[in-house]
Amino acid sequence: MPEKKTYYITTPIYYPSGNMTIGHTYTTVAADTMARFKKMQGYDTYFLTGTDEHGQKIEKKAAEAGVTPIQYVDKIVAETKELWKLMDIQYDDFIRTSEERHTRIVQKIFKKFYDQGDIYKAEYEGMYCTPCESFWTPTQLVEKDGQKVCPDCGRPCQPMKEESYFFRMSKYQDWMIEYIETHPDFIQPASRANEMLNNFLRPGLQDLCVSRTSVKWGIPVDFDPKHTVYVWIDALSNYITALGYGTDHDELYQKYWPADVHLVGKEIVRFHTIYWPIMLHALGLPLPKQVFGHGWLLFGADKMSKSKGNVVYPEPIVRRYGVDSLRYYLMREMPFGADGNYTNESFLTRVNADLANDLGNLVSRTVAMIEKYFDGILPTWDETSVDTEMDNPLREHCAALPALVEEQMDKLQFSQALIEIWKVIGECNKYIDATQPWVLGRDPEKRGRLGNVLLMLAECIRYAAVLIGPVMPNTPARIFEQLGITDEALKNWDSLSCFGKLPDGIRVHKGDALFQRLDVKKELEALAAEKKSAAAPKTEPQATAPKKEAPKVEIPEGCVSIDEFFRCKLRVAKVLACEPVKKSDKLLKFDLDLGSEHRTILSGIAKFYKPEELISKNLVIIANLPPRKMMGLESNGMILSAVEEKEDGSEYLRVLTIDGDIAPGSEVG
Ligand code: ME8
Ligand code: MG
Repeated sequence: MPEKKTYYITTPIYYPSGNMTIGHTYTTVAADTMARFKKMQGYDTYFLTGTDEHGQKIEKKAAEAGVTPIQYVDKIVAETKELWKLMDIQYDDFIRTSEERHTRIVQKIFKKFYDQGDIYKAEYEGMYCTPCESFWTPTQLVEKDGQKVCPDCGRPCQPMKEESYFFRMSKYQDWMIEYIETHPDFIQPASRANEMLNNFLRPGLQDLCVSRTSVKWGIPVDFDPKHTVYVWIDALSNYITALGYGTDHDELYQKYWPADVHLVGKEIVRFHTIYWPIMLHALGLPLPKQVFGHGWLLFGADKMSKSKGNVVYPEPIVRRYGVDSLRYYLMREMPFGADGNYTNESFLTRVNADLANDLGNLVSRTVAMIEKYFDGILPTWDETSVDTEMDNPLREHCAALPALVEEQMDKLQFSQALIEIWKVIGECNKYIDATQPWVLGRDPEKRGRLGNVLLMLAECIRYAAVLIGPVMPNTPARIFEQLGITDEALKNWDSLSCFGKLPDGIRVHKGDALFQRLDVKKELEALAAEKKSAAAPKTEPQATAPKKEAPKVEIPEGCVSIDEFFRCKLRVAKVLACEPVKKSDKLLKFDLDLGSEHRTILSGIAKFYKPEELISKNLVIIANLPPRKMMGLESNGMILSAVEEKEDGSEYLRVLTIDGDIAPGSEVG
């Protein structure tokens, strides 16, 4: 038998500095979806995830918690594995960089670099960003609020001076540029390749500091043990140490390397497309076929981050709405590659529209009609009752669906793949409206036609059920149960090779709705209340301190609860600059100081104020509205104002200001 084709996919190995968020979940669900899809297609797949446990950040966290680093990470790793179980993540291996199988090989790799002259010893003097574990030269830092900060995350950097080993990255610069230029699929989306070339490679690649003497929590350099290996050299190696590279048992390495794709967030593309390829090249190993840098899940205008205190954890959402709903939302809501906002509202709206309405109703209507008109037994196809004009478009569309989905999945375009599936689901719903089975059901002579209509629908639902499986691993079984499909050969990818495989005579079973329709308003309140009362993430007590649950109070119609009100973040904002927006007679553009950040907000009040009248005023804004584009500019919030309607129908507007002096950013409420 020929060997199966292999497919090796990885996620970043995450820092166990705190519990995993919905952002880490996003990448992991994407990798799991892809692995399941390839497995379904018959590939021999390998899916690796894990944790990046060394370095200054974890060392500090553990010290703050009064425990040893390994005690600190052990606990979070256990919780991470629980989360992946909850999310139905089927990884093949979970590598921890503290494991001996990893540390031993990293030492060997480091020594090889040293022996072959890729690494030399010198003095490092520069800046260090601990949250990113990144070195920067003073010229690479960016200015923010009069402070020099990390260009990646915007947080302050610390000066650092120590004896270090350096990797001669500069030696490989030209090779790296040429490689990227001649391998257009290597970095995806392609725009990120230009970013790497223009921002880092063409201006000149600096040698990289690859050891620390001041960090004890790391892998010791075995030939100079006062040094530990720089975390990124340590971490990137995981993709091959996990496969047994460099050991006597490197069967997995032989079988799966090079990786088909490393999935990473866009902020760490640089490490994966410059340093990692150069390391591999220096080791004489092939490069991964692709690095895909996906976008960020934002919360408001910010990247979700623990230091900003706007973290969303997946557990409460999954417990309330089920894992398939969250997985569907994550894969459907934003194109893979682009940023997107996470809001509870967009989640609930999507579950209602796509899952409860489109998919759920299609299944329940179809099954109910088979029960009603055929006593629950799938009828036989009636060749004499075919309506080619009605049936052929749907049949052809559905038969073409597996190829359409495959095309999008191979580009990691999860949302597009789901859109393709939902087009067929939508077409089925229209087919019901067009064929009107309830009318056919009244006429005994149309029984053959009615049977054909229901068979068409059942077969389309079967296709959809198979194809959503990689994203929603629990829903297909529930659909097959309702359709009465027990034969495993009708539940797999191969069974989609020709349309019309459903055998007659199988018995359907009406079941519970696949997805409950949610009352968005009620659920938003419940989620807000849950967030307040939820036990704080186990290891980060400061993030959301547990609060006493307020006694339940009925909210009368037309009122808002106090919790609902406080979801609205009102803040004092000082006007730093204000100017009219070109080509608009309504809009003013404000540059605002919010204490911890600067904001741009556009406001349609140009008729009521001259820009200079507003400079230095302390206004009140809603700070957590999703960003909005106006006249090609992005507005991040809303300035509050009062409007008086005059008797002649005209309006008079005044902005809300603060009585007296108060620090910008102060909470209003
Ligand atoms: O960077 N939106 O670990 P990390 C989208 N240890 N993705 C997000 C996200 C968000 N808001 N938040 C996290 C590290 N992620 C290193 C990696 S790999 C050899 C070493 C995901 O804990 C995304 O994949 O900071 C991002 O790149 C990763 O988590 C960062 O995880
Ligand atoms: Mg990070």
